[in-house]
Order: sequence, then structure tokens, then C-alpha cells
Amino acid sequence: MSKFLLELSYLIGSITFIVGLKMLSSPDSARKGNLVAAAGMLIAIVATIFFHEKDGQPIGNIPWILAAIAIGTVIGWFMAMKVKMTAMPQMVSFFNGMGGACAAIISIVEFNAHPEGSAGYLLTVFLGLAIGSVSFSGSMIAFGKLDEKIKDIGASYLTYLNLALLALIFIVLGVAVFSAATFGHSVVWILLALSLLYGVLFVMPIGGADMPVVISLLNSFTGMAAAFGGFLYNNQVMLTGGILVGSAGTILTILMCKAMNRSLLNVIVGSFGGGGGASAKGAAGDQVAKEISLTDAAITCAYAGKVAIVPGYGLAVAQAQHICHELEKKLEEKGVEVYYAIHPVAGRMPGHMNVLLAEADVPYPKLVEMEDANPQMTSTDVVIVVGANDVVNPAAENDPGSPIYGMPVLKVWDAKSTIVLKRSMRAGYAGIENELFFLPKTKMLFGDAKDTLQKLVGELKDL
Ligand code: TAP
Repeated sequence: MSKFLLELSYLIGSITFIVGLKMLSSPDSARKGNLVAAAGMLIAIVATIFFHEKDGQPIGNIPWILAAIAIGTVIGWFMAMKVKMTAMPQMVSFFNGMGGACAAIISIVEFNAHPEGSAGYLLTVFLGLAIGSVSFSGSMIAFGKLDEKIKDIGASYLTYLNLALLALIFIVLGVAVFSAATFGHSVVWILLALSLLYGVLFVMPIGGADMPVVISLLNSFTGMAAAFGGFLYNNQVMLTGGILVGSAGTILTILMCKAMNRSLLNVIVGSFGGGGGASAKGAAGDQVAKEISLTDAAITCAYAGKVAIVPGYGLAVAQAQHICHELEKKLEEKGVEVYYAIHPVAGRMPGHMNVLLAEADVPYPKLVEMEDANPQMTSTDVVIVVGANDVVNPAAENDPGSPIYGMPVLKVWDAKSTIVLKRSMRAGYAGIENELFFLPKTKMLFGDAKDTLQKLVGELKDL
């Protein structure tokens, strides 16, 4: 009976993971999807604790297990409640690293329990150990870099060192699988140390702002490592969960690279991601950007027929999503048609803008994806760019020498006029200048996005 209940709980767990993942694909249902998957995980954990048997014996140490779960739940809860939206990537990275560490620990424990296992069994154990360890140390470095506690080391020799280290890991893995009995535990510790070192050195040279792609890649590593754990325990829910995380992470990595028009190799060996490039004032070279006053900006928007809002990373930094929604409502009260043009990699994580705007209760149909927004630009009177830069840079279309050349962008220059809200002329993530700011139809409205939008809404009230 307990075996039946256990398998039933795993089936429910696997189904809820799949349903939850599907629900995560829309901001409307994402919150519920997360809860559905978490409920499935809870059912699987509780069932394992109470119904799993090994050699006819139930699981021991239940008070210890429950205490560990309670501590983990409290820490996780506080971290998730406290985290700022802009710090989300580092939290994901930290949690992902914990998953990798768990997978590595499972492998060590399993090797201790069955050091004389078959080659196939040992291969699963050691792959779980190597991949889990890389994911753990790599995620911790990514966490430190995103939190600005660790600096990039861009030395080119690291690429060669990493390749050599990777080759060494494969050699040790082979030795471990076929001669574990001869070498005993030492081979496990060597594999662990090399994998941890590789994780650190692999992430170290990657530009801080490329980190979301790397995190997604490390996420897929953790999924794979967990799936190996599922093989070891013949545990379907762990296997399904691991495969889902592994494949979702891989697909996300590919999608992010595609949206930036870069290969994964280019992200890993890095070509951009630094700052600088553009001056902090209103000029670059001989070119001078034109400013617009708040009153003129408010009048331009209030008397427009159709306005597009293009949010970017600056919206997240300023936490201006709520006031942005206010602006949209104010304009609509005045009979203006408003939509949001969303670039797939605006911000610093996939769906960043969708999440922010959903948080401010912006109706989902108002968010228009780039492919559908671009054809609408010619019929748009005013585009308000809120803290976006690279995703509206014409260099992606007309400058073959630009690092973002070929990346699909929002063609805001096709609209009748553009107002750019940012604090200075500084560059965005790619560290390059933006010709858009100097075009005759573009006007700059300098200041923190939240503050500027607040003042703009105030001006609109008086019109
Ligand atoms: P960015 O090109 O990074 O530009 C953001 C702009 O926001 C900056 O130029 C900055 O200018 C401005 N800003 C910052 N804080 C502000 C504030 N408080 N108020 C007003 N403006 C503020 O952003 P984007 O256009 O969203 O493009 C995203 C970039 O990140 C792309 O290059 C993309 O490839 C990359 N990327 C994205 C992802 C994902 S998955 N989304 C992952 C990795 C990399 P000032 O300093 O002058 O204010």
C-alpha cells in the first residue's frame, strides 16, 4: 500500500511540475503555476519521508530531516520576501547553486554506500558529482558578481586554463568510473576539487552583465545533476524534475542568446558587458542631444493619438513600473491610445519587463511583443523610452562594426517622435553609444525614471 501511495504521489508531483511550468509561461498564471509546482514538490517530499522504504525499513532520522526542512523553509521564505526585483537574478543563482550542491552531496553519499557499483552506476554517480559541483561553485561566483562583491577577471589565459581543466576532469572521471576500487575515495575528492575549481574559473571571466545567460546555463546543469540523482534512486519525481529544469534551462539559454544575436561561445568567452563607451553629458563627439522640458513632453504626449511606452532596465532600477501604469491611465483618460512595446531581452532577465508591469497590474493585452510592435511604429505619434538603451539602438541595424549588430531591436525611430527618459548619456549594458539620442525626432528628458514619470503625470493632471 505504501509503495502505491509513494508512486501515486510521484505521479502527482510530476504532473504538477509540468502543469506549473506551463502556467509560468504567462504573467497572468505564473504566480499560480509556481504554487502548483511547489504543492507537487511538497506532496512528493512528504510521501518520501513517510512511505519510502529501503530493504523493508522506513526512513530514519525523521526529526533531523524535518528540522532541516524547517530551517531551509524559513531561510528561503525570508530571502524571497526581502529580495528586490533588481536582485532577483542573484537570488536565482544562489538557489540554483544550492541545488547543485545537493546533487553533488547525493553523489558522494551514494559512492560511500556503494563504492563497488557497476561502471554504469559509478558513471551516473560521478557525472552527478562533477556537474553538481560545477553548478554550485559557478553559481556562487555568479551570485557574487551580480551582487558586485566579486569583480570580473578578463584574462585570456583563463580560456586555455579552463579547457585544460575540463580535459583533466574527463580523465579523472574516466579513472574514477573504471578504477574507483583501486583508488578509493581519493579519486572522488580530486574530482570534487577539480569540478569546484572549474566552476569558479569558468564563470570568473564572463562579463557581469552576461550573467543571466550563464545562470540559465548553470540552471540546466543543476537540472541534469538532479536527474542523475533520480537515476541513482530510481526516483521518478526527481528524474522528471531534473529533466524539466535541465531542458527549460537549456531552451532559455538558447533563446536569450538568439534574442541578443550572439552564440553561447561568444557569451562564454565574452565580447561585451562592460560599462563606459558614452559620455555622461548630453554630447558625444560633435553630436549634441536635444532636451525637452517636462511641460513640453506632457503636451506632446497628451495631444498624441497613439503613444508607445518602451520599458528597459532603467525602469527596473528606478522601480518606476507603478507610476508608469499611472501615466498610461492618465493618457488614456485624455483619449490617447497607449501600448507597451516589449523587447525580449529588455532588462536583465527573461521576461523582466513583463514581470515588472504585471506587478503594477498593467493589463497583459497592452504588452505588445517586438515582432508585433515594430510594424505599429510608423502609426505611433510618440514613443516614450523609459530607461531602455540597447534595445532601441539603431546600430543593431546599420553599423556592422557594432557589437550588437544583427540583434533585433525596437525601431522606435520609425515613430513620429521619441522621448527618452534616462539619467544621463551613459551607455547601457553593451557599453556603446546610441545614435537614437541624436536623431532629429528624438528628445531627451533627463532624470531618474520614477521621479520624471511622477512629474510628467503631475503635468498631465494640469492640462
Ligand atoms: P540597457 O541597454 O542596459 O540600458 C538601460 C539604461 O537605463 C541605461 O542606459 C541607463 O542610463 C538607464 N537607467 C538606469 N537606471 C535608471 C534610472 N534610475 N532612471 C532612468 N534611467 C535609468 O537596458 P535595455 O535597453 O533594457 O537592454 C537590456 C540589455 O541587457 C541588452 O543589451 C541585453 O542584451 C542585455 N541582457 C539582457 C538579458 C535579459 S534576459 N533581459 C540578459 C543578459 C543581458 P543612465 O545611466 O544614463 O540613466
